[in-house]
Amino acid sequence: MDAAQWDERYRASAGGVWATQPPAVVREIAADLTGGTAIDVATGDGRTALWLAARGWSCTGVDFSAAGLALAAARPGGDAVDWVEADVLSWEPATPVDLVVSCYLHLPDSAAAIARIAGWVAPGGTLVVLGHDVDNIAAGGHGPRDPAILYTPELLRGALDERFDVLRCERVIRTSDDAELRDGHSAAAAVDTVLHAARRS
Ligand SMILES: C[S@@+](CC[C@H](N)C(=O)[O-])C[C@H]1O[C@@H](n2cnc3c(N)ncnc32)[C@H](O)[C@@H]1O
Repeated sequence: MDAAQWDERYRASAGGVWATQPPAVVREIAADLTGGTAIDVATGDGRTALWLAARGWSCTGVDFSAAGLALAAARPGGDAVDWVEADVLSWEPATPVDLVVSCYLHLPDSAAAIARIAGWVAPGGTLVVLGHDVDNIAAGGHGPRDPAILYTPELLRGALDERFDVLRCERVIRTSDDAELRDGHSAAAAVDTVLHAARRS
């Protein structure tokens, strides 16, 4: 989907598309980190950026959908985030940050996109990537059905170079109480892949 198609989806929503809280596994990982600077990649309507900012992170939320960002900025705490309308395949932050988070960014060349955003992590910083796993198709969970844009642990791990230590890279089951959509969705558990990596100092 291009930016115009995402704009259409956000404009058609009743105040937001995605759940109000970040995915549980992201909350679990980020809760153990010391604050600092952060980028929420493809922030959408802002759930992860807002959650980080509320916990003291100086957070930038980047997305190419102006409509998604408008929803994000209008939410409580929206003033505390720096919202940037940009394509993450060409945008660069002014300086590397302590935490880069990406949730459900599925592109034709996901490995290249992840390698690119990994470059935004400062030495000693953290990268967290979460997305739908290719096994999610068979599991019947919500999400894209094109295996070419879905993740596997091997794909995520392979996107990183020797500057990173991989702390966790595995499939995780996401249940309906951790739904991705604001208005919930089918009870089928979803299969995601999570990557948690630390850049060496
Ligand atoms: C499935 S949504 C996920 C939103 C958010 N990360 C979340 O989990 O709630 C994917 C988002 O990626 C954004 N996106 C897709 N390709 C992008 C690109 N090349 N540059 C910036 N944003 C992009 C879309 O506009 C959309 O908001």
